[in-house]
Amino acid sequence: MRCRIMLIAKYNSTMNTPTRQFALQAACALLVLSLAWPYFGMKAAAIPWAETSLVIGFLAFVVASFTRQPIWWRFIHAFFAPLAWTVAQLSIDPGWFLLAAILLLLVYRGALTGQVPLYLSNTETVDALEKLLAGRQFGRFIDLGSGVGSTLLPLARRFPEASFVGVENAPLTWLFGRWRSRNQPNLDWRWGSLWKAGLADFDVVYAFLSPAPMAELWQKAKAEMSPGSLFVSNSFPVPDVEALVVIEVDCRPVRTLYCYEL
Ligand SMILES: C[S@@+](CC[C@H](N)C(=O)[O-])C[C@H]1O[C@@H](n2cnc3c(N)ncnc32)[C@H](O)[C@@H]1O
Repeated sequence: MRCRIMLIAKYNSTMNTPTRQFALQAACALLVLSLAWPYFGMKAAAIPWAETSLVIGFLAFVVASFTRQPIWWRFIHAFFAPLAWTVAQLSIDPGWFLLAAILLLLVYRGALTGQVPLYLSNTETVDALEKLLAGRQFGRFIDLGSGVGSTLLPLARRFPEASFVGVENAPLTWLFGRWRSRNQPNLDWRWGSLWKAGLADFDVVYAFLSPAPMAELWQKAKAEMSPGSLFVSNSFPVPDVEALVVIEVDCRPVRTLYCYEL
């Protein structure tokens, strides 16, 4: 039992999530195929792909459960091979899949590289931020991972005397945000990684990311932000750090703004 737990902990900690899940699915597929090929080869029969894909899905589900992957990953593993087989029956030109993959990458690059997908701050959250900012003296505001400007554009319009910066690294998302902000003189829309953005000059740093980068981002904020400045995280608290103010935004789904003073 102890040995199993240690094995699982090692497996789960040595690889990042996408690599780990890919390795799990590939290992199960290889295992099933390495048995199916010789077995049906010796019988001189064709591999029954529908059944084989179901066996791969079942095995992947069992291995994902055994290694304690999050519940949604277990179901993704269970359905991946059967769905791949089903879609293969539709005889769609592979070029369309390539196009879809490229488009997804251009919009969701952050999900692949840093476990931060694109979803947008809603108007209620922006209103709550506006109230928060109205009660403070601030001159410079940065949104780390600025999406398409759902937070920055309305705030830049409401506080024309302040300056706003957005940093985004997904190409299509950045381009769309750039186009939307073309007539907003107090909004500087930058291409690049949030990890390379210097935070020293900002009075307020806003992030709406995911649980994955929060601990590291807090270290960056602590190292770079000036005393008295404010770090605001939408929905994802910094682990083991108590927020100065927590604002429950009245919307569905409920959003929470965790505000930390440096
Ligand atoms: C949840 S969205 C938030 C969008 C926007 N801040 C808002 O409030 O509507 C997170 C954004 O961060 C971007 N992102 C993820 N990792 C990034 C990185 N390392 N550098 C810059 N942007 C990143 C994603 O592409 C995505 O657009």
